[in-house]
Amino acid sequence: MNVFSCGVLLLLTAGLASCTSGTGSLGDDDYRRLREEMVEKQLRARDITDEAVLAAMARVPRHLFVPPEMAASAYRDSPLPIGHGQTISQPYMVALMTQLARAAPGKKALDVGTGSGYQAAVLAEIVDQVYSIEILPELAEAARRRLLRLGYEKVEVRCGDGYAGWPEHAPFDLIIVAAAPGEVPQPLIEQLAPGGRLLIPVGEMHQELVVIAKAEDGSISRQAYGGVRFVPMTGEAQRRQ
Ligand SMILES: C[S@@+](CC[C@H](N)C(=O)[O-])C[C@H]1O[C@@H](n2cnc3c(N)ncnc32)[C@H](O)[C@@H]1O
Repeated sequence: MNVFSCGVLLLLTAGLASCTSGTGSLGDDDYRRLREEMVEKQLRARDITDEAVLAAMARVPRHLFVPPEMAASAYRDSPLPIGHGQTISQPYMVALMTQLARAAPGKKALDVGTGSGYQAAVLAEIVDQVYSIEILPELAEAARRRLLRLGYEKVEVRCGDGYAGWPEHAPFDLIIVAAAPGEVPQPLIEQLAPGGRLLIPVGEMHQELVVIAKAEDGSISRQAYGGVRFVPMTGEAQRRQ
């Protein structure tokens, strides 16, 4: 079984490695080169084939979504700490979820677990509108400011519990969730548009990446994609466990 790493366990090693990397200060051209290498070696060399996703990952300045002391490590094949015990997901995981969700122009996305705002920015490079929910007020505010500063005006960030989705803007063509509940939240399934896809890590000790697809007639199918490791979903998801 594939095990994709995205969460807290790897974070400690990734964080320590980056603190001792000693790469000095890098310029825009260095970061562009690191981004291109990330796209070729970590994404295209695996199974990321959607050119829109690859182009989006090549454009979004990931080094501006991590703490400044981690900038030189931003394009490594790992998650990184962003404060408050949370992480920015591994680049491959962001690309994979965006590809599996079938992000495309003309679509409307819901992003649950804004964190740094990086996944929201990648989505905004492709789809028409992104709604992003983060439960921690400090992270929500920092991501909102960062996304505005970087010109991602089509992302709206709200502080709240993503378990309930964002009914005022539903239905969504795609929903990407970056924190793992024990079970798929029913409100998220209800807020999927016909033809829509929900990507969500599910489980406690053992998590799987689940793809929920809603057919045009409203029927639901569920497919497990492989083992993953995400931070747990807090709020209502935790109360139900
Ligand atoms: C792996 S991090 C997300 C990474 C993020 N997508 C990025 O690009 O940086 C998971 C995030 O989900 C948030 N989270 C956890 N439970 C949540 C909930 N019930 N509703 C909304 N956000 C939640 C955490 O606070 C954390 O910021």
